[in-house]
Amino acid sequence: MVTRHIALFNAKGGCGKTTIAWNLAMGLSRRAPTLLLDADPQGSLQHWADWATEAEGFEIAVGEWPAGSGPDAQEDYAYWVTDCAPVLEDPRTRSVLASADLVLLPVLPSALDLWASQRSVEAMELLREARPGLEAYLLLNQIEGQSALSRASQKAAAAIGLPLLPVHIGRRAIYRSAAVEGRSVYQTGRRGIAAVDEIERLIEEILK
Ligand SMILES: Nc1ncnc2c1ncn2[C@@H]1O[C@H](COP(=O)(O)OP(=O)(O)O)[C@@H](O)[C@H]1O
Ligand SMILES: [Mg+2]
Repeated sequence: MVTRHIALFNAKGGCGKTTIAWNLAMGLSRRAPTLLLDADPQGSLQHWADWATEAEGFEIAVGEWPAGSGPDAQEDYAYWVTDCAPVLEDPRTRSVLASADLVLLPVLPSALDLWASQRSVEAMELLREARPGLEAYLLLNQIEGQSALSRASQKAAAAIGLPLLPVHIGRRAIYRSAAVEGRSVYQTGRRGIAAVDEIERLIEEILK
């Protein structure tokens, strides 16, 4: 099986890398075996990992991105989803980005956050020059409805360089409460329907 490696990266903290990594990985794991990898020394995914092994109907495994060049080729997984540290210079970030097929850069809909992401965008553009097969997209996170701010952010994001994914993630309390409960939005029943819907749209978009 050819593994597709999807990395969540932005040198800006708090933009949703970990949240999106784990919900995305859970959604992917309903389609095919998925390995969720933590490359952030903060290890936020570890608590959740203990619970995840008990998740029924989800073909997911969770591990740490090893120091050095990354995990051995593991043909048992269709997808790897890696959560990066917000540090471009971290050797693990470097090795994740060197191995990724697709990099998603979450950005919040604010001018300050977009500017703070400029360096990460430039780093992706450099990587893409060296490796034209690498796909990289900005992914707006914590969008609030169809507000003027959301529309302005879409325009601003489109101007900073990388292509913007046409699917956005909304600002929803369920992402926070699911995390507190040690769950993904897929395990929150009716409360999570809208969030599951948008994660599913994100998956359809990146698997196109
Ligand atoms: N779409 C969202 N809606 C509501 N809260 C969110 C959303 N995405 C992230 N958060 C919250 O924002 C905070 C930062 O998210 P996190 O995934 O930890 O970012 P990062 O990994 O980039 O530092 C967390 O408290 C998380 O629960
Ligand atoms: Mg994180």
